[in-house]
Amino acid sequence: MFKWAKLFHFRGNDLVKTVESPDGRTVCEISLKNGELFYRVLRDQKPLVKQSKLGFSLCGEKPFGDNLKLVRSSNKRHDEIVELDWGEDRYLSNKYREIVLYLAEDKDPKRIFTMRFRVFNDAVAFRYEIPPQPKFQRLTVADELTEFNLDLNSVAWKIPAYQPDRYEYNYEKSYLSAISGSVHTPLTIKTQSGVYLSLHEAALYNYGSMTIKLNSGGKLQADITPLSDGTKAHLDLPFETPWRLIMIADSAIGLTTNRVMYCLNEAPVEDFSWVKTLKFIGIWWAMYVGEWTWAPGERHGATTAHAKEYIEAAVRLGVSGLLIEGWNEGWEGDWLENGVNNSFTVATPDFDLEEVARYAHAHGIELVGHHETVGFIDNYEKQLEAAYNYYAANGVHYVKSGYAGSQITVNGRKEYHHSQIGVRHYQRTVELAAKKHICLDIHEPIKGTGIERTWPNLLSREGARGQEYEGGAISPSHACYLPYTRLLAGGMDYTNGIFDIMNSVKHISTTLTRQIAYFVTIYSGMAMAADRPYIYEERHMDVFKFIRDVPTNFEKTIPLAGEVGEYFVVARAARGTGEWFVGGVTDEHARRIQVSLDFLKPGTYTAEIYTDSEDAHFRDNPFGHQITTKHVSRNESLDIYMAPGGGFAIRLSPSPTNGA
Ligand code: NOJ
Ligand code: CA
Repeated sequence: MFKWAKLFHFRGNDLVKTVESPDGRTVCEISLKNGELFYRVLRDQKPLVKQSKLGFSLCGEKPFGDNLKLVRSSNKRHDEIVELDWGEDRYLSNKYREIVLYLAEDKDPKRIFTMRFRVFNDAVAFRYEIPPQPKFQRLTVADELTEFNLDLNSVAWKIPAYQPDRYEYNYEKSYLSAISGSVHTPLTIKTQSGVYLSLHEAALYNYGSMTIKLNSGGKLQADITPLSDGTKAHLDLPFETPWRLIMIADSAIGLTTNRVMYCLNEAPVEDFSWVKTLKFIGIWWAMYVGEWTWAPGERHGATTAHAKEYIEAAVRLGVSGLLIEGWNEGWEGDWLENGVNNSFTVATPDFDLEEVARYAHAHGIELVGHHETVGFIDNYEKQLEAAYNYYAANGVHYVKSGYAGSQITVNGRKEYHHSQIGVRHYQRTVELAAKKHICLDIHEPIKGTGIERTWPNLLSREGARGQEYEGGAISPSHACYLPYTRLLAGGMDYTNGIFDIMNSVKHISTTLTRQIAYFVTIYSGMAMAADRPYIYEERHMDVFKFIRDVPTNFEKTIPLAGEVGEYFVVARAARGTGEWFVGGVTDEHARRIQVSLDFLKPGTYTAEIYTDSEDAHFRDNPFGHQITTKHVSRNESLDIYMAPGGGFAIRLSPSPTNGA
């Protein structure tokens, strides 16, 4: 028995077990009281999560989690360095103490289950594991009873669940006590004593996504996205639930590099060495500003001729990929209504995929294909294999998919995207794409729960309000919420780099340098430079240089400064080059910050610094910027100004002589 996992002891009649994190600051205490199972979490000896119930209510069965007795338990300590092929950090520390409790009901039907807890320095995670049993081989979850009993005077940054636009909402700050309805995870919270935590889940497979509600007892509780039959999940045993994850940090920025979610996922079992991150432009924003259309016609975007022009532009711009949307049959009329019959293998008459693919290949450009399902899963699944084969046969190794619409249609029934049925569908696409050596960027996706550790071909997702909402529905604070909320669930395709800021159809709430800062502040394994190439080439190639230079795969990430919804500054080391990239964004308030360069190695670096000018402003002077180059070293700090709604970006390249 290890010291950190104390022997069971009794408190009154309650059986209590405590597990300490490796650094001793986080403690999880599990207790059995009158046959019911609870946990609580302490941080620095103070209660963080108060006594919280565990268990399920089931359809047609007695609830699961009462009348329990402990059969046996086991302990383990784990200390491992996880290496990821791509992402924000190459190496993750997967270090925890684990306890496994084997539980059985005292009375009939005498079912059994296992609870596995892992206590990390900066997180507590646990899951239910239900083995098959002679009288119990399938079950239907009516409700998961897992509670997260937090002080309701804590503040939270939340977006609502079960709404038509899925995860695409603006964040709202409120007390936990003001939660009405259910809210999505990651749910980031600051307690009265200043501890930051985020409730989320890891390894979501074959189960409804967890949202969070306030239950009638005034406690936060897991609320599993329901199926159309009103139940939460139909399970064949054995079954392991996703991990329930409580990330913990001393500061807001400390939370932003919490990578426990990935550690709770399994290493890949297949060879994914073929997966490469990608920077791309697209036949895309021209449709948003009304220059082109998805549908065929006079202004059709996805023509063979346009695709060739964009391929040539990608070469000139120094990006390696091109997304083409609107090339297939199905976009005519109201595509949201009519998409029920979309074809994923038949092109419009003015688009020749074979020819475009040949041209792309000859120019060294990767095509990013597109599948807009409009949520009609029945239609999509029928064609899925043929659709991937069509791309694979033409050397297309990247696909952006989309699930526009407030619900998905499966077996003729409307379901939530995030329901068990939805989770299964998205997983099927990831696994089949892997077989065909196709990487995915999923829009309107299932939220990230770290499964890209196991399935690295899932390079990116949307899953939050992105720049397509610009032109009125996004304020500068939005991108200052994301690093502390949505991005705890992994990378995001925010469609960065819109330089045509004052466009009359879509006026963007940004300064110019903020658009390049996004390439550092919002990580994406597939990073889009989203504006039309002529905008870059004719107007701002000096600023575009940063987009060309910034990598899409990083060695290490160090958050430097920030507060939720106010600002965020982060430094990231490139892989293999010794270069560092720093980015920062602010809300509608101007900010001056000192960026200490102490993360650099000794020696000199050339700093290319892109900042807002003193008179820049996201509303009426977004283009005001300056670019300066100077030599710096790790002993220095840079004095950086961010204009209202602005941001900055820095590239730091080691001088040839410094050996960094
Ligand atoms: C919504 C996606 O987020 C966007 O990127 C895409 O262009 C449209 N759907 C159409 O598929
Ligand atoms: Ca979207």
